[in-house]
Amino acid sequence: MSKNASQWNQHPKFPPSHFVDSRIYTDEQLFVEEREKIFNTCWIIACHESEIPNAYDYRTFFHPGGTSLIIVRGEDMKVRSFYNVCPHRGNTLLYDPVGNAKRITCIFHAWSFDSKGNCTDISREEQGFQKRFCKADAGLREVRAEVGFGGFVWVNTDDNACTLSEYLGDSLNMLHDNMSMPLEVFHYHKAVVDTNYKLWHDTNSEFYHDYMHYFNRVTGMLQPGYFDRKYTGYPNGHASVGSMEIKYDAYEGGKQRGVGWPALAPGGWILIDIFPGMTYNLRTSVLRMDTSIPLGPNKLLIEFRGLGLKSDTPEERAERIRDHNTIWGPFGRNLHEDLLGVHGQGRAMHPGSEPTWVLHGREENMTIHDEGGMRHFYAEWSRRMGRKSYDPYGERKTSAVA
Ligand code: FES
Ligand SMILES: [Fe+2]
Repeated sequence: MSKNASQWNQHPKFPPSHFVDSRIYTDEQLFVEEREKIFNTCWIIACHESEIPNAYDYRTFFHPGGTSLIIVRGEDMKVRSFYNVCPHRGNTLLYDPVGNAKRITCIFHAWSFDSKGNCTDISREEQGFQKRFCKADAGLREVRAEVGFGGFVWVNTDDNACTLSEYLGDSLNMLHDNMSMPLEVFHYHKAVVDTNYKLWHDTNSEFYHDYMHYFNRVTGMLQPGYFDRKYTGYPNGHASVGSMEIKYDAYEGGKQRGVGWPALAPGGWILIDIFPGMTYNLRTSVLRMDTSIPLGPNKLLIEFRGLGLKSDTPEERAERIRDHNTIWGPFGRNLHEDLLGVHGQGRAMHPGSEPTWVLHGREENMTIHDEGGMRHFYAEWSRRMGRKSYDPYGERKTSAVA
């Protein structure tokens, strides 16, 4: 039955954990708060160690908290991170996304810094500052950085946050044996989508939308074991989806795949979502990593990386690249459908300014079409925001079910 305005505003007959208010995807005020309370307090993947293999290699990273960071490997081979900001007058230090710099020299007044963040030169230091200020007073602002859990470079702009290991807890245990050897990024691309970052994470947190993927219906949904996969939630909003065997050969006429992955059953699949917007997705021969960088409530930059083993032979690497690109590359069978699925989602759900409800109400014993993974995410979102995801401004009539 169609709805009039007052019927449309009545919440669904679910517990409040099973739906959210659509404004959490669209409101500028909430987005500003998310940067402060979520992105600037959580551990975030900035890049992978293999992208900066040599001393002085750097990468710039637009942190989802809203600032530009430098990730640089020092002459001691340690990876460090700094704000990409000159301590003189706040100029941006590095503009290129990637490079190698023994010295980082600000283009504005030529102050220089080494890979440990020390200031090594202040032009006309003595003449301008006499003894009042010197190089030792002008280091770069360091950001906490750790390398681990597959060789990713993690950063946290909150000096008081817990350690990375504490943040992740047991959430990545399922991948422990699969990531015991050095990995290497062989594919990188990014997409900018008109959507909210949470809606992208949702596509990685529920597989009910496999109905959208023709290919997944064949390789996954029709295969035995698909509906046995279970969601497991972990503290801090992370969640895993149990492994299953993917029958890619069901689509490809029974052709056997040559390259597998250490400690992964042939055709295996392990997916782990890390709060607030990173996903480890290991299938058959490739690890895919998604990292979400919101640019606004309705604008999202997603970085996609494909990884293989650093020890790959050229033949093994070529097969991994083929396996990756046919499914997950920009012209693959799967990814563009997900991007279409979230494009415009959120805005389109409430014509004009009228908020609506977004349902997370499916219960299937926490198996693959259960929406429990999303409910777990929004419970953490609510905890960190100090707001209810189903009633972010405390004015909706949800008390009857609450
Ligand atoms: S702003 Fe960088 S040297 Fe002046
Ligand atoms: Fe998908």
